[in-house]
Amino acid sequence: MAAGFEQAAVSDPQTINRDVLKVKHMQDLFSIAGKVALVTGGSRGIGEMIARGYVANGVKTYISSRNAEVCEQLATELSREGECIAIPADLGNMQGVDHLAQQLNERESKLDILVNNAGANWGANIDEFPEAGWDKVMDLNLKSPFFLTQRLLPLLRAAALSEQRARVINIGSIDGLSTPAFETYSYAASKAGIIHLTRHLAKFLAKDGINVTAIAPGPFPSKMMAATLNEFEAEIAAANPCGRVGKAEDMAGVAIFLASKAGEYVNGVTIPVDGGITATLGSWVQP
Ligand SMILES: NC(=O)c1ccc[n+]([C@@H]2O[C@H](COP(=O)([O-])OP(=O)(O)OC[C@H]3O[C@@H](n4cnc5c(N)ncnc54)[C@H](OP(=O)(O)O)[C@@H]3O)[C@@H](O)[C@H]2O)c1
Repeated sequence: MAAGFEQAAVSDPQTINRDVLKVKHMQDLFSIAGKVALVTGGSRGIGEMIARGYVANGVKTYISSRNAEVCEQLATELSREGECIAIPADLGNMQGVDHLAQQLNERESKLDILVNNAGANWGANIDEFPEAGWDKVMDLNLKSPFFLTQRLLPLLRAAALSEQRARVINIGSIDGLSTPAFETYSYAASKAGIIHLTRHLAKFLAKDGINVTAIAPGPFPSKMMAATLNEFEAEIAAANPCGRVGKAEDMAGVAIFLASKAGEYVNGVTIPVDGGITATLGSWVQP
């Protein structure tokens, strides 16, 4: 049966839809201009890298974090080269999640790209790990992306009616893919959780024209990583297959791809952006 089908396709060119062979020029394939995005935790670190990439490429970008002043300052700076608007909110609780969703609903009729990036970490040894360190991290890293996505579904569904599918991009971590170096139990569990939630949401939102993917960053310079990088950057860079830590264009590049036409058939998966740490794990001897 399969062989017969192949034969028919080869012998009769009319059975091939030639439209699927068309490829747009780079500028159209990767263009995200004219879209509307929300980047949570967009005021600094990885969220700022993504927001900068989006604003520089013509996306009307909303950034959100708790510190209203820092958020406003960055929005003002980025607005010199595009459109960036701050909506401060604390996503560690449901009131903040509702506030952010409501603010966006009042300002926009569609949302093309939601980047669930805001996150926190907590380290403590197993004997002393406190409940507060579990709840704070789980609430922000896992619960808030789920409920923010849920609250923003009407805007995402509205965007999906346009030419391209809408995108939810969750920021996980390589610590959700493999065992972390430090005792950050709730963090690693939250990141493994968001990676699985990404697959689960992708399955049920695909029919609504919404793709859900995740990025698993390796080490990138940020406030969260400052203490670790101050002490160990040379060792971390030396141990990385690419010989360095991440930079803004590494992160912005993947976030742009996932939001573009080029990334429209990528769904439910997590892309490690880590210089090859995850892919080369398991080497038991240094060459
Ligand atoms: N940097 C890395 O190497 C690395 C590696 C793997 C994964 N990641 C992930 O990347 C994401 C960003 O981390 P980062 O390294 O850029 O950290 P960061 O520099 O500490 O930035 C965190 C961002 O989230 C915001 N935020 C924190 N708590 C919040 C809350 N309760 N409500 C709303 N916003 C809040 C912060 O602003 P406010 O403090 O003003 O709220 C800030 O904008 C996180 O999900 C993190 O797990 C980072």
